[in-house]
Amino acid sequence: MLILGIETSCDETSLALLEDKGGKFTLQKNLIFSQTITHAKYGGVVPEVAARAHMEKIAMMLEEALYSPIKSGNDKKKRLRPDVIAVTAGPGLATALLVGVETARTLAYLWKKPVVAVNHLAGHIYANWLPVSHPEIVSRNLKIRAFVRDDIKFPALCLIISGGHTELVIMKKHLKYKLIGQTRDDAVGECFDKVGKILKLPYPGGPEVAKHAAKGNPAAIKFPRPMIDSHDFDFSFSGLKTAVLYHFKKIPKSSQKNQKIIADICASFQQACIDVIITKTIAAAKKHKVKTILLGGGVAANSELQKQLKAAIANNLQKTKYTALPIEYCGDNAAMIAAAGYFHARKKQFIPWKKLNADPNWDLT
Ligand code: KG4
Ligand code: ZN
Repeated sequence: MLILGIETSCDETSLALLEDKGGKFTLQKNLIFSQTITHAKYGGVVPEVAARAHMEKIAMMLEEALYSPIKSGNDKKKRLRPDVIAVTAGPGLATALLVGVETARTLAYLWKKPVVAVNHLAGHIYANWLPVSHPEIVSRNLKIRAFVRDDIKFPALCLIISGGHTELVIMKKHLKYKLIGQTRDDAVGECFDKVGKILKLPYPGGPEVAKHAAKGNPAAIKFPRPMIDSHDFDFSFSGLKTAVLYHFKKIPKSSQKNQKIIADICASFQQACIDVIITKTIAAAKKHKVKTILLGGGVAANSELQKQLKAAIANNLQKTKYTALPIEYCGDNAAMIAAAGYFHARKKQFIPWKKLNADPNWDLT
């Protein structure tokens, strides 16, 4: 089965081709066009601008995605025809989602192929099933990734940390999700981005804050750890952001660009986020006796968080499996949408193209 994944929920236009042979995945293409530069001048993603940028790119990217990287006998490139179309239908920005959804509807109509509507958050979870580089493939310098993840056992605890979401989800089996905790205000990625803005760092703030944090002292400033002792699995990050703002305002203007001061704020803020996230994740994993912990979303790209989470799991949950998510699968990409699409397609969970629609507030259920 060859699955075309389409992702346009926010500011990344992405198309992927994922091949399944008896449950073994080969990722043939994962094209990602990031609109970061376009939105940088506005200091955030502008929905109308995002939709227009998706429109401008998607046809060209489709052309590139559908040509096989393997040349056929007569040396002409072969155009591929996917068996299934998997598209992000929500949650996300309405105008942006519509570009992917309308593309999927058109292709389904023209090709007479089935469509799967994929929840974006399910995509972030299923990024964990994507093939990771096989050493042999790396050594032969092939771009194709072909390797199987067959070590993911249920029940699994999924920690989704992105620009729009901070959620803890229990999966007892494929495609079954139970939300056990979420943020009551800002998402953690949103908080990183806002802290970046407060500190006048370039856009987007998340990776910039992480970069400065690597040079700072995480114990320099005692920022609050909101809801760390709340005995539930909910989060709150807006108070932490305000604490950073008040701290920064107290610093004399002449020192506000001092690299050491910025680095210490970033490291201390990042550590506060990590402490809350890890404490809640370990407690949830213990309570629900999970066999696996999975990570997903743009903030999962934070290497310090991945490092500390790995150590905390090793120290507290010796029997629980955790494998780091490769950085290219953390942020938005269509390969993860194709992977989730595969599991729906396996169960014939298709939607007639006429009924396919964008749902900007689609909860993971
Ligand atoms: O999953 P994603 O690409 O888009 C959403 O679905 O929201 O996540 C984007 C978020 C942004 O808030 C970005 O600043 C954050 O992930 N992010 C990071 C890092 N890299 C990206 N946050 C902290 N540390 C990072 N290294
Ligand atoms: Zn995302």
